[in-house]
Amino acid sequence: MTTSLSPDLARLADPAVRPDPYGVLRTLREASPYTDPASGIVVVGRRSDCEAVLRNPKVSSDRQGSGITTVPQMPNLMNLDAPDHTRLRRLAGKAFKPRLVQQWRPRIEEIVRELLTDIAAGENTADLVSAFAYPLPVRVICDMLGVPREDHPVFEKWARSIAYTVDPQLVPGRLSTEVVQEVEEARAGFVGYFGRLIAERRHTPRADVLSELISAEEQGDQLTESELIITCILLLVAGHETTANLILNGILGLLRHPGQLRLLRERPELAEAAVEEVLRYDAPAQMITRIAREPFTIGDTPVTPGTPLLVLLAAANRDPDVHRDPDTFDISRGDPGHLGFAAGPHFCLGSVLARLEGSIALNAFAQAFVEPRLDAESLRYRPHVAVRGPDRMRVSFKEIRVDAVRVTGTSERSVASRG
Ligand code: HEM
Repeated sequence: MTTSLSPDLARLADPAVRPDPYGVLRTLREASPYTDPASGIVVVGRRSDCEAVLRNPKVSSDRQGSGITTVPQMPNLMNLDAPDHTRLRRLAGKAFKPRLVQQWRPRIEEIVRELLTDIAAGENTADLVSAFAYPLPVRVICDMLGVPREDHPVFEKWARSIAYTVDPQLVPGRLSTEVVQEVEEARAGFVGYFGRLIAERRHTPRADVLSELISAEEQGDQLTESELIITCILLLVAGHETTANLILNGILGLLRHPGQLRLLRERPELAEAAVEEVLRYDAPAQMITRIAREPFTIGDTPVTPGTPLLVLLAAANRDPDVHRDPDTFDISRGDPGHLGFAAGPHFCLGSVLARLEGSIALNAFAQAFVEPRLDAESLRYRPHVAVRGPDRMRVSFKEIRVDAVRVTGTSERSVASRG
């Protein structure tokens, strides 16, 4: 992927396309499945083909040495295959059971109120990227892992550096030596930090995700020290920019479709459905990659071992064979599920948490912001192609009613996490 791409595919990496990639994605979906003549990448964009690839045991998630990324990867859930993946997923999944995740609702509501209180204390305008959508998931996952508040900023910096490792390299040589060095430094920082935190939790367990991961056990098997560290890093990295983009793409969708914003304000019970629509209509994770391990075909396209596949989730989510009026943003559509969290064995481990954070944040935006207006000139996108979302997004408003964001009961978790 770091070599040449045919013009159609190269357009995906063009910064001018980032604000609205859906025309390019439609062209690629309609032409798919096909082999890009310049790079040899198999492009998959139809919903049924994407799903078939993601569930196919003949594809691998181990992209090391494939040219899709030049940053050395640590073996983690995202890049391992069965049986190693199955074992790790079973153990890590124990800390992410829906019942355990839902217990964090009051704490997430509290964090949302804290952020809105800070915004309300300033001018009647704010950059919702830096003031709301980015800090929220970091504070949540840091609290869940038991990282003290004063260390959150350094975590945010490290998580941002490592975000480069999840982007397929569609632009030749885009990862400079400095970026690779930044990634290495961030990893070293995380490894040292989590090593110390794990030792503390082994000694004194708490009501947090880290203690759950340490004690997770399956038939006498447990996560090793290095697996624990790598899983903690992955949780931060995988759930940071993706969740921020879910919130930002959602707010953007609501601001651009005032009727939908009104609907959510009047019917807060639609918040979960609104999240599903954002994941479909403007997917934070636009595409993922796989490598063929054994030969197979998609439609008429033969795939040989070692071939990289580009699975265009955001194209599949607008496939008219599955979704009616796929280019319309409609939070009440209630049609078949999307591929926003992928499918198959690597289906997002944090989906329950992402949905919870997304629905609380979008509802808070709809209920608390009085007469919000997008400053369209301020909108800028990050360079990342796979995890796509705004870098700057100013919104002005008449007032913020923080009290409109309810907190469900008392947050035992918040006490535990501060403890
Ligand atoms: C809206 C927010 C999110 C989106 C759109 C998203 C999307 C995805 C996608 C598409 C994958 C599949 C990757 C692949 O197959 O190559 C994935 C996997 C994963 N996600 Fe998420 N994610 C989100 C939030 C989170 C959160 C909050 C966490 C945890 C705190 C998380 C943790 C993970 C992990 C650990 C995996 C790897 C699972 C595996 O390979 O078995 N994600 N996510």
